Amino acid sequence: MKTILVATKKPFAPVAVEGIKKIAEEAGYNFKLLEKYETEDELKEAVKDANALIVRSDKIHAGIMEVAPNLEVIVRAGAGYDNIDLDAARERNIVVMNTPGQNANAVAELVIGMMIYYARNFFNGKPGTELMGKTLGLHAFGNVARNVARIAKGIGMKMYAYDPFLTDEQIKEGGAEPVHSVEELYSKSQYVSLHIPAIKETIKSINYDLLKLMPEGATLVNAARKEVIDEDGIVKMFEERPDFAYLSDIAPDNKDLIAERFEGRYYFTPKKMGAQTAEANINAGLAAARQIVEFFKTGEAKFKVN
Ligand code: 3PG
Repeated sequence: MKTILVATKKPFAPVAVEGIKKIAEEAGYNFKLLEKYETEDELKEAVKDANALIVRSDKIHAGIMEVAPNLEVIVRAGAGYDNIDLDAARERNIVVMNTPGQNANAVAELVIGMMIYYARNFFNGKPGTELMGKTLGLHAFGNVARNVARIAKGIGMKMYAYDPFLTDEQIKEGGAEPVHSVEELYSKSQYVSLHIPAIKETIKSINYDLLKLMPEGATLVNAARKEVIDEDGIVKMFEERPDFAYLSDIAPDNKDLIAERFEGRYYFTPKKMGAQTAEANINAGLAAARQIVEFFKTGEAKFKVN
């Protein structure tokens, strides 16, 4: 009997785990769970007899695949799959899939939540500012950005989006005005929210030269990946632009320096929590389980990324 392993350092909500188990067992598979593991050895031990693996941001490299001779499929329950070595998987004929869109609303709500939290001075009682009437640039316009645009529309923000993979029409349908360069996006936007993946073209691409184009009240929001940020550029922006703020769901490596020097102008969640809702866990976890069952039963690899 095939075994489906859920291995998550950051666990799913219990209700999502129950749902995944039910889908696996009703389809006739073994269900196995490894949560909050601390060492790679624990993961290696658990994955040994797995035919399918469901993970979140857990790092799955060649060394993990090496000890799992039966592994046929890995599903990243979420959007970004930069934590999985796709080449190593391809070499071993392991299919990798993600579950696009399933946790997008949760991340979008956190983006807007961080913006309001900062605009209202961390709810400290002092007068703040409002988002209504402000400009918001969406850097890439995928599932999360579209949800941000939907909520921001209700607030009364003016949205711009840059996404070289979409037509102007597709961006307009999502409620934003298309712009045709990153420079244009940053020049027009008081708030910029990042929705780009961490790939070689984007690593450290959010730098001082780009950020300095932002108008007065420049606030950068990052619920994507910390790797896309040029951290020296962020520090330079903090130094040269007293209006600049940085809100991130992934604390930068130099967070202590920022905390020490730029108090009151940043917010970092204690742990990446954009997708950390019961709803997102249910959506992404159950979708992952269903995709695996479909793959085993029919060979169909929906949302294959390798
Ligand atoms: C994603 O890529 O789906 C998000 O960054 C969420 O990641 P997480 O499942 O590790 O919270």
